Amino acid sequence: MPDHDQLLTFPSSYRAQLSDAEFARLSAFIYNVAGIKMPPAKRIMLQSRLQKRLRELQMDSFKEYIEYLMSERGKQEELIQMLDVVSTNKTDFFREPVHFDFLRDTVLPAHYGEAGARPIKIWSAACSSGEEPYTIAMTIAEYCRTKGVLHDYSIMGTDLSTKVLKMAENAVYKMDKVEGLPIDILHRYFLRSKDRENPTVRVVPELRRHVKVQRMNFMDETYSINEVFDVVFCRNVLIYFDRQTQEKVIGKLCTKLKQGGYFFLGHSESIMNMTLPLQPVRPTIFRKI
Ligand SMILES: C[S@@+](CC[C@H](N)C(=O)[O-])C[C@H]1O[C@@H](n2cnc3c(N)ncnc32)[C@H](O)[C@@H]1O
Repeated sequence: MPDHDQLLTFPSSYRAQLSDAEFARLSAFIYNVAGIKMPPAKRIMLQSRLQKRLRELQMDSFKEYIEYLMSERGKQEELIQMLDVVSTNKTDFFREPVHFDFLRDTVLPAHYGEAGARPIKIWSAACSSGEEPYTIAMTIAEYCRTKGVLHDYSIMGTDLSTKVLKMAENAVYKMDKVEGLPIDILHRYFLRSKDRENPTVRVVPELRRHVKVQRMNFMDETYSINEVFDVVFCRNVLIYFDRQTQEKVIGKLCTKLKQGGYFFLGHSESIMNMTLPLQPVRPTIFRKI
């Protein structure tokens, strides 16, 4: 083992501290542009995540960073990078599996059972790195395979963060992301890389071609999606917003959901006491009325 006898020295950006006043300015800004709440308990997390940006930009203080971020140039050049850093992107394949069971057992049979059924259109809103839209695609592919039928479908994935959308578009994942998935799902829907040192998997092209991704911020005044969907997934993102913002966002998402279409929320999210055109059908699953 090498000797450890050197004192650590770091550039000043490693030591840059986010003061309470700077945190308050930054958190108000983040709330305004992305709706994301940043309570004081998140100060250290925000500081350490942004220190990396300061280093990349060769800035020594948060004061300098905040001035740049809030300038017209910063809003063009830095805002998206900053949002990539502050957003929480945790996701998994088949996360909260009852939703995919409901899709397979209720939504798909009803949709495709109609005479002359058109391709089902599903929106994975806040799709992060793509595990959710590809899980939806696998669920539809499995449904068609087991019924011995061929049905077309399209899935739109949107997110605020360009970093995760790039991952969703590439559909390449580390092996640990697919550990625990049933072996036949792995065989049917993933390809393995040749790299034995650092193996990855990629979703097969037959599923990828049904999934399109695009950037969209829930805070946008009007949503730039000119489609109406049969199903909207909006899971595990509203928890970062306050109630008023949650209600506004769900209301806007509902304008893109066809009447009778299904809306899925994350398991810790609720629409209790909100005025929305949604009727509960199961916990966290709703139908548009
Ligand atoms: C925890 S992930 C949830 C991913 C997936 N829906 C799931 O349930 O596994 C939350 C995602 O919401 C996105 N997000 C946060 N604020 C957003 C906003 N204002 N507009 C759109 N997406 C946002 C984040 O970038 C992140 O990828």
